[in-house]
Amino acid sequence: MKRFEYYQPRALKEAYTLMERFGQGARYIAGGTDVMVRVNQRVIKPHALISLRGIRELDGISLHGGVRLGGMTLFRDIERNPVLSTEYPVLAQAVSVLANPQVRNVATMGGNLCNSAPSADCAPPLMVLEASLFLEGPGGVRSVPVEEFFTGPGQNCLGSTEILKEVKIPEKAPHTGMAFLKIGRLSQDIAIVNAAALLVMDKKICVKCRLSVGAVAPVPLRLKGVEKLVEGQEISLDLLERIGRLVQDDVTPITDVRSTEDYRRVVSGVLIKRAINAALKNAAPGGHRPGGKAEWKTKGEVGGVLGALKKGESEEAEGPDTGSSTRRVIHFTLNGHKVSIEAPSHKMALEVLREDFQLTGTKEGCGQGECGACTILIDGANVNSCIYPAFELEGKTVTTIEGLVGEGNILDPIQEAFVEKGGVQCGFCTPGMVMSSKALLDETPKPSDEEIRRGISGNLCRCTGYVQIVDSIRKAAEDLS
Ligand SMILES: Cc1cc2nc3c(=O)[nH]c(=O)nc-3n(C[C@H](O)[C@H](O)[C@H](O)COP(=O)(O)OP(=O)(O)OC[C@H]3O[C@@H](n4cnc5c(N)ncnc54)[C@H](O)[C@@H]3O)c2cc1C
Ligand code: FES
Ligand code: FES
Repeated sequence: MKRFEYYQPRALKEAYTLMERFGQGARYIAGGTDVMVRVNQRVIKPHALISLRGIRELDGISLHGGVRLGGMTLFRDIERNPVLSTEYPVLAQAVSVLANPQVRNVATMGGNLCNSAPSADCAPPLMVLEASLFLEGPGGVRSVPVEEFFTGPGQNCLGSTEILKEVKIPEKAPHTGMAFLKIGRLSQDIAIVNAAALLVMDKKICVKCRLSVGAVAPVPLRLKGVEKLVEGQEISLDLLERIGRLVQDDVTPITDVRSTEDYRRVVSGVLIKRAINAALKNAAPGGHRPGGKAEWKTKGEVGGVLGALKKGESEEAEGPDTGSSTRRVIHFTLNGHKVSIEAPSHKMALEVLREDFQLTGTKEGCGQGECGACTILIDGANVNSCIYPAFELEGKTVTTIEGLVGEGNILDPIQEAFVEKGGVQCGFCTPGMVMSSKALLDETPKPSDEEIRRGISGNLCRCTGYVQIVDSIRKAAEDLS
C-alpha cells in the first residue's frame, strides 16, 4: 500500500530545506498530475511529498517588459489570460491542447518543465520565445536558458533540492508571428510530435527565426541550423520544402506505443512547415501591440497557489496546519456543509469522499487521471479526485454529484437532461460526465458542440458513443438558459 508523508511549506526556503533533510526519498509535488499518477502506479515510492501549492513566491503571471510566469502558474490561468492569448499565442495554443480540462485545472508550468518529457507541450513554445528558467535552492538563484534545461528523457539540470521558481520570456519585437502545432492520437493527447515557430518579419524578409520540435529526440529540440537558413530570406514554397527535408534529417525519433519512428520523422518536417506558415500569418503589421503592457495576476481559481490563502490573510497566520505530515484534520466545505475529517497523508480526495463520507457517487475508474470517472468540483473547477491529495482540500469548496441533487431529491437540470436524452447507459462514467458538464455550463452557458466536446474530453465513456451525451449537455444548456 502506498504511504508517504505530506508537507505543505509556505516559503521556498522552507521547501528546499525540507528537501535537503529528506534527500532522495522525497519529491516536490505541484499539480500532481504526473507525480500522483506515478505514485498510484507504484512507479515511484517517495516517503515524503513536499507540496509547492502554498508558496506565494511561485505564483502569478505578470507582463512588464516581457512575461514572468511563476513556477506554479496553472495551465488554466494561462489559457484564460487574454493578454497571453493575443500577444504570446504560441504558449496559449500549446496549453489549450494540453491534456484535458481536469488536468489543466491543476497542472502547472513548472511541473510540465520539471517532468522533462521529450513531448512536454510547453517546451517548444518556450524555446522559440527564448525563455529563461530561474532555479532556486540553498545555493541561491541561477538562470538557465530553457534549451539548456533538458538533459535527457525525464531529466534536467535541476539540482537535487532546487525549485523552478519562475520563467521569464523577453519582450517580443514588432511584427513577430508565432504558432504551435501538435499531432496526437486524440486532439488533447500526449504529442506524437509537437512544433513551434516564431518569426520576426521586415516586410517580406524574415529577420529572425526560432524553431523547435518535441517528441522526436531525447529532449525537446531547437533547430538552430534550420533557423539560420531562414533568416534573411523571403519564405517561399521552395524554402519551406527544404526546411521540411532538413528537419526530417535533424530529428532522432523512436518508435513507441504512440507512433513509429518513420511517422514521427515525416510529421516533424510537415509540422514545422505548417507552424512557419501559421506564424507568418500572425506576423502581419498590427499583430503587435506597441507598448502593450499589462498585468494579469492569477487568483489560482482552482485553489492552486493562492487558493490556500484568502485575501488579506498573512502567510504565517493562516493556511493549512503544516505541523503533522502524516495525519491531519482537514476542514473544507462539502456540498454546502462545513466539514472536518481526520485523514492520513497518503489518502486522495476520492478515498476521503467515498470511504469517510460514504459519497460513493464519485467513481474510481483508472486511478491515474485518465478516465474522469472520479471528477468532482473544487472551487468550481472540475478536477480528478483520484490524484488530488486530501491534505490539499483544506479550505476548499468541494461539490460531488450528490451535491447537485436539490431538496426532495429533485435532480439538477443537467442530470434530467442526461436521463431524457439517453446520456446514461451503464452509468459508471455519468457522475464524472455530469460534473464536467456542470463546470462547463457554469463558465460557458451556451457552448458550441465543439466546446461541449472539449469540456468533456477528460471523461471517457465506453457505452454511449458520446452522441447522446453531447445531446444531453446541449439540452441542459437550453433548459438552464
Ligand atoms: C491524462 C493526462 C494527460 C496528459 N497530457 C499531457 C499533454 O498533452 N501534454 C503534456 O505536456 N503533458 C501531459 N500530461 C503530463 C502532465 O500532466 C504535465 O506534464 C503537467 O504539466 C505536470 O504538471 P504538474 O503541476 O501536475 O506536475 P507534478 O506532477 O506535480 O510534478 C511533475 C514533476 O516536476 C517536479 N516539479 C513540479 N514543479 C516543480 C518546481 N516548481 N520545481 C522543481 N520541481 C518541480 C515534481 O517533483 C515532479 O517530478 C498529461 C498527464 C495526464 C495525467
Ligand atoms: S481519472 Fe480518476 S479514476 Fe480515472
Ligand atoms: S454510460 Fe457506461 S461508461 Fe458511460
